[in-house]
Amino acid sequence: MLIQKVFIIGSGLMGGGIAQVCAQAGIQVFMNDINQDILARALKNISWSVGKFIEKGKVKESLETIMGRIQTVTDFTAVGQVALAIEAVFEKLDLKQEIFKKLDEICRPETLLASNTSAIPITDLAVVTKRSEKVLGLHFFNPVPMMEVVEVIKGVRTSEEAMQAGVNFVRAIGKEPIRVESDVPGFLLNRINLIGYVEAIRLLELGIGTVADIDKGVRLAFGRRMGPFETGDLVGLDVSYGALTAIYEESKDIRYYPPQLLKRKVKAGEFGRKTGRGWYEYPPDGTRKEK
Ligand code: NAI
Repeated sequence: MLIQKVFIIGSGLMGGGIAQVCAQAGIQVFMNDINQDILARALKNISWSVGKFIEKGKVKESLETIMGRIQTVTDFTAVGQVALAIEAVFEKLDLKQEIFKKLDEICRPETLLASNTSAIPITDLAVVTKRSEKVLGLHFFNPVPMMEVVEVIKGVRTSEEAMQAGVNFVRAIGKEPIRVESDVPGFLLNRINLIGYVEAIRLLELGIGTVADIDKGVRLAFGRRMGPFETGDLVGLDVSYGALTAIYEESKDIRYYPPQLLKRKVKAGEFGRKTGRGWYEYPPDGTRKEK
């Protein structure tokens, strides 16, 4: 199945990034959000990022051609035209289920429905539709235009045909697919990564190391580009907290129980880069300060 048009619900960090990589790959995109102001902000971010790729010579087409492939919408009318809809709204089960129900009602019967959820089992979204064999996870990593891997996730009833279509779509947009054969909460890569993040926060809580030292150590010792707190600020403390909570609720595995300090910072609105304050501070001048 050749996917030429996609409908993306949610134009935030992830939805905007997914729209960008699709448009860069020649795919027609309908990008949906709750209002035009949010969509305008998303378009501005995408345009800036595409411009950087063009500057570096990594994208050959013009900015106008690529941006011309993205149409912003606040309703679901255009979803009837697409072969694939990708949901990337807030990490809330009831909100995502509401959207999957709506998509199922309006989409053509053959349309695949995917979620970019970090931790919600795909089956929990598939059950509200009448096409659970066509519901799958497409889990992108942040920042989407830079990160090369996408997890393609099988729910309990996802068909092999849908999995193959997901794998082919990921390749078509220039990314590398990883198959996740069961929708265990957190899938493959978040389960591995979150354990390290939780441990880093616990060591910080115990006063055993500082944010900056832990990040520096992990970068230098393990050859990573970013330490756990730098990654945490980029991903969003709220997003990681949501993912940990979902994994813990589902599995009751104590290793994923969100640390108190993370919970308190999320309650205080310290979500990381997007709020200007997280594990580090981000003043408007674009620098980063240790707290
Ligand atoms: P975000 O907060 O940047 O964007 C969410 C967008 O959804 C917002 O623009 C919001 O206005 C929109 N939205 C909310 N309700 C809506 C509705 N009813 N209809 C249409 N749009 C609606 O969130 P982000 O970070 O992009 O996360 C989105 C999803 O991707 C979440 O499920 C998250 O767990 C997942 N994810 C996030 C990653 C990250 O690093 N931030 C990485 C991988 C997955």
